[in-house]
Amino acid sequence: MEGRTTAEPASATLSAEHVANRVGQAAAGSRIASIRMVRLVTGLTLFTYVGTHLLNHSLGNISVGAMEEGLSIQKWIWQGVLGTGALYLALITHFSLGLRAFYERRHFGWTWTEVVQLTLGLCIPFLLMNHLFVTRIALTQFGVQKGYPQELYSFWVASPELGVQQAAVLIVAWTHGCIGVYLWLRLKRSFEHLKPLLLGTAIMLPVLALLGFYQGGKAVRLLAHDPVWRAANLNPWQVGLAPENAMLRWERNVSLAIALGLVLLVLIARGVRAWRERHGGLVRVTYPNGRVARIPSGFSILEASRSARIPHASVCGGRARCSTCRIRVITGSGRIPPPHDVEQAVLHRIGAGPLVRLACQLRPESDISVVPLLPPYWTAAAVRTKTAPRPGEERFIVVLMVDMRNSTRLAETRLPFDTVFIIDRFINAIGTAVTEAGGLPNHFTGDGLMAAFGLACGPEQACRQAITALGLIGRNIAALNEVLLAEMAEPIRFGIGVHGSTAVVGEIGYAESRVFTTLGDAANVASRLESASKTFACQAVVSHTVLTLSGCDASQFPQHEVAVRGRTANLVVHTIADVSTLYHQTDASSVARSPPRFRRGG
Ligand code: FES
Repeated sequence: MEGRTTAEPASATLSAEHVANRVGQAAAGSRIASIRMVRLVTGLTLFTYVGTHLLNHSLGNISVGAMEEGLSIQKWIWQGVLGTGALYLALITHFSLGLRAFYERRHFGWTWTEVVQLTLGLCIPFLLMNHLFVTRIALTQFGVQKGYPQELYSFWVASPELGVQQAAVLIVAWTHGCIGVYLWLRLKRSFEHLKPLLLGTAIMLPVLALLGFYQGGKAVRLLAHDPVWRAANLNPWQVGLAPENAMLRWERNVSLAIALGLVLLVLIARGVRAWRERHGGLVRVTYPNGRVARIPSGFSILEASRSARIPHASVCGGRARCSTCRIRVITGSGRIPPPHDVEQAVLHRIGAGPLVRLACQLRPESDISVVPLLPPYWTAAAVRTKTAPRPGEERFIVVLMVDMRNSTRLAETRLPFDTVFIIDRFINAIGTAVTEAGGLPNHFTGDGLMAAFGLACGPEQACRQAITALGLIGRNIAALNEVLLAEMAEPIRFGIGVHGSTAVVGEIGYAESRVFTTLGDAANVASRLESASKTFACQAVVSHTVLTLSGCDASQFPQHEVAVRGRTANLVVHTIADVSTLYHQTDASSVARSPPRFRRGG
């Protein structure tokens, strides 16, 4: 902990604190679950209301009379005691939860869907307020009976700017709801089947509604020239008296001011919190490649990763649903708060070991070091289709084994500090390439690294990712060699072996020293091919299986056969003299996040 010291509590008080923590965490867990449920139920209520509204508008494609018929059904549903109560309760609760989310979410790491959803959600009350007061409140307060003829007259004849506002609120509310439904359903297996239907409905319904709104408006504009129609449809009991309308306008403005005041209050609260956090103690979060994030106490590990721009999988956006942000706590585990009920349930579902936690839920109060357990580019599709490996699961894995050449000589001729510095840069260059391609560096062997591809995808994509990683490794090591040119007698050289086959994936180890690894033919053969790269004097030896499955033209690389211990037949492989040639042949140049940066100093 920076800025303050952390003393271990005395053992006598530990159990009492532990019990208190457990109670607190359990309460936090059930609070999160309840809030999530309330947000979902109120959101679905409002979404249904907007959906029925759009359906009703689309009847305008038939006639204004059809819209009125539809409205009578709508009124039956939404203007009874139950409907009105549910609607107002949902409106107030959902808006309050939106303000709460606006307060709680930090400014960094928002995805565009979250930004759009929240912005649209906060706009809805301001766009909706006028319509709410001139229809529902006018009915309750003054008994004004408005229907489609009166509203369409207002939107298309008397105040066209209100018509634009009305169309806008429908689109905004519908889009906000669609994003919410998407975020809710995208992790469910049935989403794959429902996707076309949902997408079709999400697009077609508002289009039909806007067309109906236009057709209805056009009809009313023509009818408005007819004095008989005006006399029948624009009576005071249908459009309200001037003093009544003035009162409604005043009430609307007060409500708008209150809503605006609430948003401003949240903004001020965020500012105060940020100021307090900046002046409080900081917690250090250390990651495997030596990167460190410093966060105020109270931030989650996922927020730490985001603030330090460390790629970290988080498919559900930190809602404790997907488990893709899972981490292993390496040090500091004795001082972390226990998981609350919701986190515990997710950890139980994935069969997590004792030191595995969800990064989005763990809020350390003292220094901690962690290892993210899944590749940062894990997708919702992978979660949905359950391609995430379960402990002890068998699946097709491509293993890439890299070894730095002449590292022993390097250690003999240079100071220990220099040796560690150079090998650390080498491992970083390889690890960055692997993660950018979609793989997981999961085993370090001094001057080498083993990486796995295919933990979240099928065999073809796993092979493509491995070949892409080769291109990125070539690029990264070339950049590193340029930086170290003056310090090294010769450039860094390396050998790589790549092979794919069915392997067992899972965690092995003892106590806190557990690692996620792959066991089986792929790792053994990749290791053998890495050794063979010395014999062939090339940078990489890749099995024919991987090269062809990746879609790469294997004929451009010399073909050989290699004997592998334990196999009766030789393995067909290809040698690649310079892996950087793959950089422009594969996805490498498009997945590379930024040019590699290597510092000269330690
Ligand atoms: S980000 Fe989904 S569970 Fe943490």
